[in-house]
Amino acid sequence: MAQTAVVVGTQWGDEGKGKITDYLASKANYVVRYQGGNNAGHTIEFNNEQFKLKLIPSGVFRAEKIILGNGMVINPESLIEEIKYLNDRNVSTNHIRISNRAHVILPYHLEIDALQEELRQDQKVGTTKKGIGPAYTDKYARTGIRMGEFIDKETFAEKLKYQIDEKNVLLSKYNKPINTFEEVFNKYNQYADYIRPFVTDTSYEIDEALQQGKKILFEGAQGVMLDIDHGTYPYVTSSNPSAAGATVGAGIGPTKIDEVVGVVKAYSTRVGEGALPTELKNELGDYIRKVGREYGTVTGRARRVGWFDGVIVSHTRRVSGLTGLSINLLDVLTNIETLKLCVAYELDGEVIHFVPSTIKEFERCKPVYIEMPGWTENITQVKHFEDLPLNAQNYVRKIEEITKVPVVIISVGPDREQTMILKEIL
Ligand code: GDP
Ligand code: IMO
Ligand code: MG
Repeated sequence: MAQTAVVVGTQWGDEGKGKITDYLASKANYVVRYQGGNNAGHTIEFNNEQFKLKLIPSGVFRAEKIILGNGMVINPESLIEEIKYLNDRNVSTNHIRISNRAHVILPYHLEIDALQEELRQDQKVGTTKKGIGPAYTDKYARTGIRMGEFIDKETFAEKLKYQIDEKNVLLSKYNKPINTFEEVFNKYNQYADYIRPFVTDTSYEIDEALQQGKKILFEGAQGVMLDIDHGTYPYVTSSNPSAAGATVGAGIGPTKIDEVVGVVKAYSTRVGEGALPTELKNELGDYIRKVGREYGTVTGRARRVGWFDGVIVSHTRRVSGLTGLSINLLDVLTNIETLKLCVAYELDGEVIHFVPSTIKEFERCKPVYIEMPGWTENITQVKHFEDLPLNAQNYVRKIEEITKVPVVIISVGPDREQTMILKEIL
């Protein structure tokens, strides 16, 4: 059995990573989130309760330690809100640790996110407007404020003063309200007091845990198709959800990763702008959206729905080195007479099996489908693969064949119990 595993989204996010992380967390000592911020939204259900998480790793209910890694961008206000939300529901958060190298999202990041979207006019990314892009921009411009600096009053004041002045030049140019240093500092300094006890060198803690033989699960947010390098650029987020992001974003070496579980929906969804080659803009798409409750956790936007896309998941296998697949929401496809799976694209008359790098070419890709018969039996209580209707088994096996990745988990409902394990991971 492995000591470490990464859970990664293989499509455009919302594949059910939260549910699978929560499931696998029962076997892990630590759960570490390695990128993104409160643009993520995970729904987790167990014991007839439902929880919605954004920043806090989905292992919070079961693991002994929960880490927000250095690769994350953290909105302190949102984090405190989430801690209180969990405490109000009797979930302890004393086991949370926050990397002193993670970056802080400040109010001007959200304002600039909104301004940039406005300026993009008909080329909007459709961001969650949580300030993610601008916070990562500051990180790479080397002007960001890190957690370790945020909790040090003097350093925070120094850096914030400079940042507010700089950002106000931009905001005032477009007649947007500007921030005063005092206002932001006074408010955020109180947040810093709250957060200070959680902040530490998490890479050091993870290393110690590894040396003690503890099991560690790394949790990716978003999905590989939203990866800044490997996704459908520019319709992506500003971090590396790909499994490789786990090493940089948690502060461990690549040699420490044993397994990579790719979480995949039995079909495709996407929120925000950007092409979705297998999109179903018809009644069937509306039906799947309704049955799958496909509305965003963070923004409430309706998710766009499409058939399973094997070109996408093969791309994900390659760039993330998947060792196993978790097929989720298989139950949603019940009662559809004929199921289609995309196995290639046709681009300008040529059949291709890869994702083109430019968005213009990607937009011209037409899916090449195979068809499979569906099933009508209710599968939401099935516990063993052999008990699935034959057509559902065949559908799963076909995904395995197309992607060349063995299926290790099948999920047939939102609840923790509605999970079949084909191979133990941790
Ligand atoms: P994440 O961002 O990848 O964690 O996914 P989200 O939580 O945003 O979206 C997945 C949605 O599907 C949530 O509402 C889950 O409760 C739900 N879900 C997860 N697995 C299953 C499943 O196997 N079947 C059904 N019907 N719903 C599921
Ligand atoms: P989870 O972790 C689905 C999308 C946004 C937008 C693009 C950029 O729940 O799977 P951003 O605010 O990150 O700059 O937006 O990325 N997006 C997600 N879509 N699930 C997510 O997270 C997402 N996080 C960001 O809709 O298209
Ligand atoms: Mg989500």
